Amino acid sequence: ARVVVLASGSGSLLQALLDACEGADYPARVVTVVSDRAGVGALDRATAAGVATAVVRPAEYGDRVVWDAALADAVAAAEPDLVVSAGFGRLLGEAFLARFGGRTINTHPALLPAFPGAHPVRDTVAYGVKVTGATVHLVDAGVDTGPVLAQEAVGVEPDDTEDTLHERIKVVERRMLVETVAALARHGATVTGRGVNIP
Ligand code: GRF
Repeated sequence: ARVVVLASGSGSLLQALLDACEGADYPARVVTVVSDRAGVGALDRATAAGVATAVVRPAEYGDRVVWDAALADAVAAAEPDLVVSAGFGRLLGEAFLARFGGRTINTHPALLPAFPGAHPVRDTVAYGVKVTGATVHLVDAGVDTGPVLAQEAVGVEPDDTEDTLHERIKVVERRMLVETVAALARHGATVTGRGVNIP
């Protein structure tokens, strides 16, 4: 399967996918990495792996709607089977989802529906819960609200900071993302209501 990854940060989750794609029997290949920001680690990691990159900066477009359509065009140019949002800093809009909804997944460092939004690990530590985790879900028009594909719990330690906890969650995210992409590449996912079971 041809995979396009959307990433805006250091790209350690992207790196896990890039590493998995080195495997001869891994059923997916990252064909392009697209960011909304130039100069981020994810773009360097893609280039180091010989993977094409594209930057679609909101500042270069009149408004969100125009930017969203431009992002969709950039992704479409790579002819993806699957789009993976791995630390992408912006919400995907109507035009994007019209073209790639149902085959766009996101990874979120919390057990959705708990702690959605832009700072889930900070919110998790602030709330004082004892268990959190990671979620991989299909992207829909809401904020972190799409059908859940995979989840795994991560314990919160008393002395955890946002950073120490986030690093431990990312270890789980990397493995879950690699596994979920492989499962989708092999079997696809029919969305049957809320819970999605990949055969
Ligand atoms: C991940 O925890 C992802 O769930 C969140 O941002 C982080 C990206 O990490 N949205 P990295 O840039 O891949 O290291």
